[in-house]
Amino acid sequence: MYDKTHALMARGRAFLGTEHAILCGAMSWVSERNLVAAISNAGGFGVIACGAMTPELLDTEIAATRALTAKPFGVNLITMHPQLFDLIAVCAKHKVGHVVLAGGIPPKGSVEAIKEFGAKVLVFAPTLALAKKLLRSGADALVIEGSEAGGHIGPVATSVLAQEFLPALAEDHVVFVAGGIGRGDMIAAYLEMGASGVQLGTRFACATESIAHPDFKKAFFRANARDAVASVQIDPRLPVIPVRALKNKGTEEFTAKQVEVARMLDEGKVDMAQAQLEIEHFWAGALRRAVIDGDVENGSLMAGQSVGMVTKEEPVAEIMAQLMSECEVALTR
Ligand SMILES: Cc1cc2nc3c(=O)[nH]c(=O)nc-3n(C[C@H](O)[C@H](O)[C@H](O)COP(=O)(O)O)c2cc1C
Repeated sequence: MYDKTHALMARGRAFLGTEHAILCGAMSWVSERNLVAAISNAGGFGVIACGAMTPELLDTEIAATRALTAKPFGVNLITMHPQLFDLIAVCAKHKVGHVVLAGGIPPKGSVEAIKEFGAKVLVFAPTLALAKKLLRSGADALVIEGSEAGGHIGPVATSVLAQEFLPALAEDHVVFVAGGIGRGDMIAAYLEMGASGVQLGTRFACATESIAHPDFKKAFFRANARDAVASVQIDPRLPVIPVRALKNKGTEEFTAKQVEVARMLDEGKVDMAQAQLEIEHFWAGALRRAVIDGDVENGSLMAGQSVGMVTKEEPVAEIMAQLMSECEVALTR
């Protein structure tokens, strides 16, 4: 049915153990048992967002996801989590097949600790040089994510990253492309450039199975590409990673938060690492307020530029089938 698409996805499908090489990227608070299981049951690859979860919570979440799907799924761990190695141990206990390390360069020993229990490691890399280094030192696959994406972003567009990374790496390595993908036509283009598969977040965030608050979903359905803006860095000293989200009062509150953290830095109340954690805790709290509580005014509505292509609530299986058939049509054209 998806002959051409599946042929181009062959390496990605084998790597993930799935029918389709489409990952739903981990989204904090959104990518929990229900959405993750629905993605995997629909032939894609769901990824649990561990975010700031404790090892105990992750333990429960993995078990609960297993109860809802017999298909493969992964776990996304944030490298700066203070209990990273305990979280890896939880993944080992459950024999999780794939771990995605996000949010920075994997600390020493983390890739080895994951591979030790037989799981595959996926990493993000902002530059080609770093990508090569990570692949040399044991990472099994790469996700390249452009600035169109929702959530924490780098400065370079997906289309440019694809041109830099795919010709250099795709022949010998499994590379997934993320950021700004809303239709199957775009998936076809990246597959033809050599990608093994793709990762989407925004397109799946408001699926029927997503536990996101109805008001969070409504904000997505109303929004256009230009509403999903990157946060602005107020103080050049602050290690602020830009975040793409729908414009609201929360966007302004982030500006105020940065001023507050900069003042704490000036007064010597925090050092640079603590300042960064303050900023990350702000985002985690703000995202929770929007996703779980439905506070779409003050919370953070993290969304990518593809949000304009999210217009109604649909079951994951329908979104997946639509993406796959659009891709097949584009490849057959
Ligand atoms: C609401 C939201 C929360 C996200 N949270 C995380 C996260 O916790 N960890 C992570 O690695 N990526 C996170 N992302 C990025 C997604 O995993 C994915 O890579 C991205 O959404 C892909 O780009 P797209 O939004 O253009 O489809 C998040 C994205 C969104 C929209």
